[in-house]
Amino acid sequence: MNIDSYVELAKSRLSLKRFMHSLSVSREAKKLAQKHGCDEIKAEIAGILHDIMKETSCEEQLAMIKEANIKLNEIERRSQKLWHAPAGAAYAKLRLKIIDKDILNAINYHTSGRANMSILEKVVFVADYISEDRKYNMLGKIKFLSSVSLDEAIVSGTEYTMKFLFKKKKLVDSQALETYNAALMRIQDKEK
Ligand SMILES: [Fe+2]
Ligand SMILES: [Fe+2]
Repeated sequence: MNIDSYVELAKSRLSLKRFMHSLSVSREAKKLAQKHGCDEIKAEIAGILHDIMKETSCEEQLAMIKEANIKLNEIERRSQKLWHAPAGAAYAKLRLKIIDKDILNAINYHTSGRANMSILEKVVFVADYISEDRKYNMLGKIKFLSSVSLDEAIVSGTEYTMKFLFKKKKLVDSQALETYNAALMRIQDKEK
């Protein structure tokens, strides 16, 4: 399958709003891949597919996760909003037969991230924060940072998300904190 067929697939599985978001993430991911040096096609594909299971029922998301043998941690189990990411990776692997681990990981970790992210994972993670349809107070800052350093953008992005979750008294996935700490340590190590 090429990028056009993935675009058509996303169009058929998502609402117009979510499809436009996915298209924008795909475009932003391509730009970030050019800027930060990773495969542009993979970035486009992971971008268009990152929310492919977002509008599928929770039951189907869980069934897909189970079928792919992906284990959820306690916080993930309790936070339905996180399920679409591993479910999307499972769908890409099992139904679309995508075997590229980097693409699958970029989809799997696009919400909470993880400590040791590849450039492609970072690109999709950050592209999701800066897509055209987003409107929030730190958007300008994160957009600017994304053109300079993916790790700086990750620190500010996860800071924004965690603050939002704390304020709403929602569970915070420990993986998000690991993502934040790891990106911050990479920045600190560069400054030495
Ligand atoms: Fe998502
Ligand atoms: Fe998204």
